[in-house]
Amino acid sequence: MKRKRALITGITGQDGSYLSEFLLTKGYEVHGVVRRSSSFNTARIDALYRDPHDPEARLFLHYGDLADGTGLRRVLELAAPDEVYNLGAQSHVRVSFDQPEYTADIVATGVLRLLEALRDSMRVSGRTVRVYQAGSSEMFGAAAPPQHEGTRFHPRSPYAVAKVAAHGYATNYREAYGMFVANGILFNHESPRRGETFVTRKITRAAARIKLGLQRRLFLGNLEARRDWGFAGDYVEAMWAMLQQPEPDDYVVATGVSHSVREFLAATFACLDLDPAEHVEVDPKYFRPAEVDHLLGDGRKAREKLEWSPKVDFQALVQMMVSYDLELARQERTLLDAGHRLAEAAHGHD
Ligand code: NAP
Ligand code: GDD
Repeated sequence: MKRKRALITGITGQDGSYLSEFLLTKGYEVHGVVRRSSSFNTARIDALYRDPHDPEARLFLHYGDLADGTGLRRVLELAAPDEVYNLGAQSHVRVSFDQPEYTADIVATGVLRLLEALRDSMRVSGRTVRVYQAGSSEMFGAAAPPQHEGTRFHPRSPYAVAKVAAHGYATNYREAYGMFVANGILFNHESPRRGETFVTRKITRAAARIKLGLQRRLFLGNLEARRDWGFAGDYVEAMWAMLQQPEPDDYVVATGVSHSVREFLAATFACLDLDPAEHVEVDPKYFRPAEVDHLLGDGRKAREKLEWSPKVDFQALVQMMVSYDLELARQERTLLDAGHRLAEAAHGHD
C-alpha cells in the first residue's frame, strides 16, 4: 500500500516535533517546512532526521516560509502531500503586541497563501489534500468559560485576532471550494519541548536552575490568569484524528480543567521543595495590554467524535517538565563546575 505523505509547517516547533514523531510511527512519509536561520533551528526534530540519501529516510525538510507564497507552492509540488498540518506561526501572544503586522502576515495571511497554493495544486494535480489549521483557544479571549465550538470569539491580542481570521479563511475555503479543512481549537498544551518564554516552561526551567544554584530570582507577570493546560504529545493525536473523519469540522481540544499561573508555580516549586515567596517577583513588564483571564475548554465533541481524551493530567505534566529541566540544569551545573575547576587549576600554574 502507498505510504501516506504529510506536510507540516512549523515542524521545528513544539507541536511539529511531536506530530512528526506520531506520523512517522504511523508509517507516514513526513515533509516539513523549515525557515532559513543563521543558526540551526531543528533541535526538536534532530533525533528523527536521517540523511535523505538513506533509503530508510522518511522525514524530509524543505526551506520555506508562510510569508513566501511562491516557495510554498514549490514545496507543495515537491512533497505532494495527502495531508497538510499548518502549525507555523509567530505563536507568542505577548510578542504579537510588539509585532502585530508581522504576526498578522504569518498567522492570518500565511494561511490564505497556503490555502490558495493548495487550491491551485489540487486543481492541477486532481488530487485531494486534507488540511489541519492550528486554531487556538486564544480566539475565545474574553468569552466566559467554559468555551466550546459554538462560543463566540472575543480575541484580545493581535495574535488572537489573526487566528480568528485564519479560522475564517479555513471555513470559507471549506464552504466555497469544498476543501477538506479542519479547524482545531486547541487549548494550551505544554511539554519539556515548550519554548522557554511561555509561562509554564519559564517556571519549570527557572525553578530547576534555582534548585541547583544557577539563578536566584524569577520575574513573572499576571499570576491570576487561568489556563486549561494539557500535554502537547496528547494533542497532536487529536490533530491527526480530525483529518481521518469523513467530513471536515471544528473541534475544541482541552482537558476540561483549569489552573492559575500561581497554581502552576506552586506545583512546580513543591516538586523541588522550594518556596515561591523566596524567589518569585511580579514585573509589570510581563503584563499584557489586554489579558485573557480564564480559558477552560469543553471538549465533549472531540471526546465523542474523535474518541480523543487527554492521557496526561496537570500534576503529571508539571512533574514531566520539572524532571526534564532538572536534568538540563544538572548538565549546566556540571559544565560550570568543571569550568571553575579548570580555571583554578590554571591559576595554580601561574
Ligand atoms: P511554536 O513552538 O512556537 O512553533 C511555531 C513553529 O512555527 C516553529 O516551527 C516556527 O519556526 C514556525 N514559524 C514561525 N514563523 C514562521 C514563518 N514565518 N513561516 C513558517 N514557519 C514559521 O508553536 P507550537 O506551540 O508548536 O504551536 C503550533 C501551532 O499551534 C501554532 O500555530 C500555534 O499558534 C498553535 N497553537 C498552539 C497552542 C499551544 O498551547 N502550544 C495552542 C493553540 C494553538 P522556528 O522554529 O524557525 O521559529
Ligand atoms: N509568557 C509569559 N511570561 N506569560 C506569563 C508570565 C510570563 O512571565 N507571567 C504571567 N503570564 C501569564 C500570561 O499573562 C498568560 O495569562 C498566561 O501566563 C499564559 O501565557 P503563555 O504561557 O505565554 O501562553 P498564552 O496562553 O498567552 O498563549 C499560549 O496558548 C495559546 C492557546 O490558548 C500560546 O501557546 C499560544 O500560541 C496559544 O494559541
